[in-house]
Amino acid sequence: MGKLDGKVAIVTGAARGLGRAYARRLAGLGARVAVSDLNLKSYAEFEGEAKAMTADTTVDEIRNGGGEALGFEFDIADRDAVFAMTEEVAKAWGTVDILVANAGGGRGRPADTTATLVPQDLLELVTGMNFYGTVYSCSAVAPHMKEQRSGRIVTVASYAGMVAGIGGGYAHYGANKAAIAHYTRYLAQELGPYNVNCNCIAPGVIETARIVELVGGRSGSNEGNREIALRRNGQPEDCAKVVEFLTTDLSDYVTGAVIPIDGGWNRAG
Ligand SMILES: NC(=O)c1ccc[n+]([C@@H]2O[C@H](COP(=O)([O-])OP(=O)(O)OC[C@H]3O[C@@H](n4cnc5c(N)ncnc54)[C@H](O)[C@@H]3O)[C@@H](O)[C@H]2O)c1
Repeated sequence: MGKLDGKVAIVTGAARGLGRAYARRLAGLGARVAVSDLNLKSYAEFEGEAKAMTADTTVDEIRNGGGEALGFEFDIADRDAVFAMTEEVAKAWGTVDILVANAGGGRGRPADTTATLVPQDLLELVTGMNFYGTVYSCSAVAPHMKEQRSGRIVTVASYAGMVAGIGGGYAHYGANKAAIAHYTRYLAQELGPYNVNCNCIAPGVIETARIVELVGGRSGSNEGNREIALRRNGQPEDCAKVVEFLTTDLSDYVTGAVIPIDGGWNRAG
């Protein structure tokens, strides 16, 4: 018996990286998982992500492991597509119990994306894939969760949404993640009376293959980095464990929380 046997979950941005880890963990706990992404083979963009794959897509990995999964390819910034996917999942499996609104990320270089210099196209792209995508995903699942008077929503912010980067670069990303964290507090207030728990996770540096390949130098133990209390970067499973906590009965009385998963990262030190 899995803790999530019979439950239906949607994980966005689950073709690789953290989303893939969440989808696989929820499936391992017994949930049926809808895997959504702009590109279900986005892992191909990074060598390490591609190497880690045990099948053609996250959907196939779950199915090969004996689980049930459906795949959806669309842009999370497309409101109609988000609602259409949600309705398809609810039609196929009866309802939606869990949403992990993980799709998102930053675009552009820090030097080009300070608070007053961020180009309009990057501002719109990053706001679409982070804040709007999160609002659409939560809005689409809410009616199902309200109707059944239960549900779990996990949104994804970032350390960058809590502490501004030195020099002010990546302002568009940080501000979007701050918006997601605060939106989640409002969401928890609205949906609490319906027994729907809504929480947000705020990862620090998590060593997905993308991070290792792009940020390279920061990977590894991070032993000498006094900014991180635990002296190591995070691993995808560090985040997946917290997602398990937030989607199972262990967190029945937790809602409206923004939980850092950053090893105790503190720039003030
Ligand atoms: N890895 C980290 O250190 C870290 C730290 C803080 C926050 N986060 C957040 O965690 C989430 C996952 O991060 P990751 O490191 O796994 O990122 P990633 O870039 O490796 O994976 C993101 C996935 O989302 C998909 N995606 C991107 N834009 C999309 C869109 N418009 N519509 C649908 N899908 C889209 C991508 O195709 C990709 O498969 C993101 O929201 C990110 O901002 C990550």
